[in-house]
Amino acid sequence: DPIYVITPTYRRPEQLPELTRMAQTLLLVRAAHWLVIEDAKEPSKQIAQLLERSGLRFEHLTAAMPEQYKKKRGAKPKGVAQRNRALQWLRANATAGVFYFADDDNTYDVAIFDEVRITDGWEAVREAVLWRVERRSSVSVQIRSTKRVSMFPVGLCTKFGLSTPVVSSAGAFVGFYDGWIGGRKFPVDMAGFAVSVKFLHMRPKATMPYAPGFEEDGFLRSLAPFEPKEIELKADNCTKVMVWHTQTKANAPSPPLDMAKYNQTNLAVLKT
Ligand code: UGA
Ligand code: MN
Repeated sequence: DPIYVITPTYRRPEQLPELTRMAQTLLLVRAAHWLVIEDAKEPSKQIAQLLERSGLRFEHLTAAMPEQYKKKRGAKPKGVAQRNRALQWLRANATAGVFYFADDDNTYDVAIFDEVRITDGWEAVREAVLWRVERRSSVSVQIRSTKRVSMFPVGLCTKFGLSTPVVSSAGAFVGFYDGWIGGRKFPVDMAGFAVSVKFLHMRPKATMPYAPGFEEDGFLRSLAPFEPKEIELKADNCTKVMVWHTQTKANAPSPPLDMAKYNQTNLAVLKT
């Protein structure tokens, strides 16, 4: 069954490198089906080309952030329109499998999707290099096997270092660890959970709210009835970090750059 990887994305100088990196990660994932949803009115040609060239199974969709939020100062509900567009696509087109909200700038270890198979000598070497040997024991405990909602740690590049369910040594869920709990029922990162398509079909009203900081919590609450104690714990009982919430530092010149000009400049450099 497919793993639907839902990636909102918007136009900026880092966009193509981010999506290139992500595409190459997803090429290592069996039956990955990439839903790329642009925050734009029209799909861009560059992204269409990138997707075509990747060889991945994909859908290229668009959903612009509503004007009222775009104009707002301060925190914006980033990626919400796009993720809801993807949920709409899944409801219309998917029957089985698992979906995962994977922002374009994070860092994903392919081991979060499922076990790595050792088929020959080269693979064995590669696996040793990547410290995957111990992960062989985690066959079918990764997100591909999600029955309803699974969760796992997300590495943060902050003082808190981590956002994760807390699991007792006996393997039971006991709570959440996050730098900011904020009164949330599910204080988790967007990259820290996966949901089965069948469960989505059982929750026709599930949706992500336009609530900065509360997108994850709002979406997970909208899956009610569903309680934290029902969470399926992945990544070896939440003992391993296999995804990091990273950000690419923009290297753009100021004042704010004009994308059309930026692309032209790059082309001009290539031509000389
Ligand atoms: C954090 C969360 O991990 C996001 O999932 C959440 O949507 C966001 O905060 C929030 O609370 O608003 P952060 O790294 O701060 O993420 O956000 P970005 O990575 O900048 O954006 C999240 C996703 O939305 C990315 O895939 C990005 O490409 C996309 N995005 C961002 C848009 O589609 N439009 C925008 O205007 C900004
Ligand atoms: Mn991000």
